[in-house]
Amino acid sequence: MNKYIFAGCCLAASAALVAGCGDSGKSKPGASPSATASATGSAKAELPKFDRSKHLSVFAKLPEQFESKDNPITPEKVELGRMLYFEKRLSKNHDLSCNSCHDLAKYGVDNQPTSEGHKKQHGDRNSPTVYNAAGHLSQFWDGRAETVEAQASGPMMNPVEMAMAGPESIIETLTSMPEYVEAFKKAFPDAEDPVTLDNAAAAIGAFERKLVTPGRFDKFIAGDDKALTDDEKTGLAVFVEVGCTTCHNGSAVGGKLYQKLGLVEPWPSQKDLGRFNETKKDEDKMFFKVPSLRNIAKTGPYFHDGSVADLGKAVDMMAKHQLGKTLTAEEKKHLLAFLNALTGDLPKDYIAEPKLPESTDKTPKPDAS
Ligand code: HEC
Ligand code: HEC
Repeated sequence: MNKYIFAGCCLAASAALVAGCGDSGKSKPGASPSATASATGSAKAELPKFDRSKHLSVFAKLPEQFESKDNPITPEKVELGRMLYFEKRLSKNHDLSCNSCHDLAKYGVDNQPTSEGHKKQHGDRNSPTVYNAAGHLSQFWDGRAETVEAQASGPMMNPVEMAMAGPESIIETLTSMPEYVEAFKKAFPDAEDPVTLDNAAAAIGAFERKLVTPGRFDKFIAGDDKALTDDEKTGLAVFVEVGCTTCHNGSAVGGKLYQKLGLVEPWPSQKDLGRFNETKKDEDKMFFKVPSLRNIAKTGPYFHDGSVADLGKAVDMMAKHQLGKTLTAEEKKHLLAFLNALTGDLPKDYIAEPKLPESTDKTPKPDAS
C-alpha cells in the first residue's frame, strides 16, 4: 500500500539532507517531493503518510526543567529570580522589566518586530521567547551568550534596553530594599556578600530554567496517538520529508545549532550578518542560531529582525531560501497545522507576577534622561 508515496518520500528526505548539509548548489527545486508526486495525479497523493518510527526519531519531549551543574535550581533562587524578572526598578526610568519585552503571559514575547526600550529606543533585533530558551545551545539570535545566566545581566545595562548605568546602580537599587537583601541571603546562603550582579543573574537564570511549555506534541511523542489530529500528523510528516528537521529538531524543535540564513538562496536582507558580528570570521556571515519552533504560532513577528508577520510567509521563505523548494498549497496547509500544534501550555501559577518590595528613601528615583 502506498509504495509509490513512500519511495517518493525517501528521495525527498535525502535531497533535503543534501541541502541541509551545506551543499547548496546542488539542490534543485525540480527534485522536490511535490514535483515528483504530482506527476502521478491527485493533490492528496503528494502528501507523505505519517509514520511514527520514521518521523519522530529526531524529536524529544521537553524536560521538566533545564538543569545546570553551575547553577543548581533551588526554590529560593527561583523565587528571587521571579521577582527580579518583573522588577522595573532595575531599569533607569523604572518603566521596563524583563517581562516588558518577554511577556510571560504572551508566550515570552511582546509580538513587536523590535522592542521598545529606554526612551522608546528600538534595537535592531526581534525579542525571542524566553520559554524553553534555557535548553538552547546558546542565547541570542547570534549565540553570543552561552547560558541564560550569562545573558541575564546584559539587558539591565544595555543602553537601548533597561539602561542602568552599571553594576553599582543595580546593587544600590537592590540593597536599598531590605526584602531583597533577605531574599538574596536565602537564595545564596553560603555567600559572604550575597547581593551581587552575578547572583542576580544566577537567580533569574534559575527562574528561566523552569520556563518550559510542554503540550500536545509531548503527549504525542510519549505515545498518545490521539494527541495530534490527522492533519497535524501529516504536517509533521511534511516537516520531516521536506527537510525542515535538518535544522529544526530535538526537544525544542530548534535551538541546537547555527545555520546559514539563505543556505540555498541568499536571504533578501543582508543587513545583519548574525554570528559574524561576534566572531568576525568570514564563514560565520549570515549564520544565526536555528530558533526553537515551540509556540511558534504565538511568537510572531518572525526572524531576527521581526520582518515577517505571517507564519505562512515565514514558512514559504524557509522552504525557498533554506531548502530551495516551493511548497504546494496542501503541504503548506498541513505544515501550518503541525506548527500550530507546537503551542504548549503556559505554567500559569509559576509565572504569576509576585509582590515586589516597597521602595525606601534609599531607592534611586526613576530617571527619564
Ligand atoms: C527592551 C526589550 C528587552 C528587555 C527589557 C529585555 N530583553 Fe531579553 N531580549 C531582547 C532582544 C531584542 C533580544 C535578542 C537580542 C539579540 O539576539 O541580539 C533578547 C534576548 C533574550 C534572550 C535570549 C533568548 C534566545 O532564544 O536566544 C533571553 C534569555 C532574554 N532576552 C532574557 C531577558 C531577561 C532575563 C531580561 C531582564 C533582565 C531581558 N531579557 C530584558 C529584548 C529585551
Ligand atoms: C538549513 C537550516 C534550516 C532549515 C532547513 C529550515 N530552517 Fe527555519 N530557520 C533557520 C534559521 C537559521 C532561522 C533563523 C532566521 C533568522 O535569524 O532570522 C530559522 C527561522 C525559522 C522560523 C522563524 C522563527 C522565529 O522565531 O522567528 C520559522 C517559522 C522556521 N524557521 C520554519 C521552518 C520550516 C517550516 C522549515 C522547513 C520548510 C525550515 N524552517 C527549514 C534554519 C533553517
